[in-house]
Amino acid sequence: MKLFLDSAKLEEIKEVKAYGLLDGVTTNPSLIKKAAAGKNLDMEVYIKKILKECGNLPVSLEVIGTSYDDMVKEGKMLIEKFGKFGNVYIKIPVDPCMEDVCSREADGIKAIAALRKAGIKINCTLIFSPEQALFAAKAGANFVSPFMGREDDYIREMNRIKFEYNDYFPKKGYKKGRKILDDNGIVSGVDLVEGCVEMLEKAKLKSEVLAASVRNVRQFREAAEAGAHIATVPASVIRKLLVHKKTREGMKKFTKDVVPEYAKLLGK
Ligand code: E4P
Repeated sequence: MKLFLDSAKLEEIKEVKAYGLLDGVTTNPSLIKKAAAGKNLDMEVYIKKILKECGNLPVSLEVIGTSYDDMVKEGKMLIEKFGKFGNVYIKIPVDPCMEDVCSREADGIKAIAALRKAGIKINCTLIFSPEQALFAAKAGANFVSPFMGREDDYIREMNRIKFEYNDYFPKKGYKKGRKILDDNGIVSGVDLVEGCVEMLEKAKLKSEVLAASVRNVRQFREAAEAGAHIATVPASVIRKLLVHKKTREGMKKFTKDVVPEYAKLLGK
């Protein structure tokens, strides 16, 4: 599974790149807002810096329009501005509507197809069902991004279960009485990722499933087990992925047990 960093912060991109583990970067308007907070950024210069740092690694930049015309126009603008500076993927929401009643639900899919026809690579975002993933993949999206953490949030919110942002949500879901809580048959974020992987495999579609909205280390592991091709993970979670209490305990013991003869061998 490839590891993407879910961040627009240049210092975090540099940090994870220095680990030698970075396979790509995803941004969204909220992540750009966090990166820009308190700074007077020239956004064009800043994004070019991110792209330079990433070289040929995929970097997702999101459109802000909510209609077919705007999304296509913005996707092309972003590529025109930044395409020659890096490997840009345009993030298009699978359904750009914000209200329950809306006639533009297919605009995302239509925009994906139009941008793909123009040779632009797409990361289809805000996916909450395997069917949405299927449609995005059929439209030609290179990446489809199911949002694991937000799926878990939704199931908990619907059922008034209290939680913290980084809380682990069981893969097999929560039981209420004898029934497992679900969102139209999806019982957890991991289940959503697994459903997307299976749906695309069965349909023999080549889009890669990019597990997004990963909030903790177990979700990362479970995304890999579910067959996600990519996981995009915040720097705070990537740092935790390396840590185990027993590794540190082992380090203490090994360090304590070093005999002088062995230390001498190593120039100490
Ligand atoms: C990445 O593509 C997503 O925009 C991101 O993972 C969302 O994460 P969040 O639900 O933790 O904000």
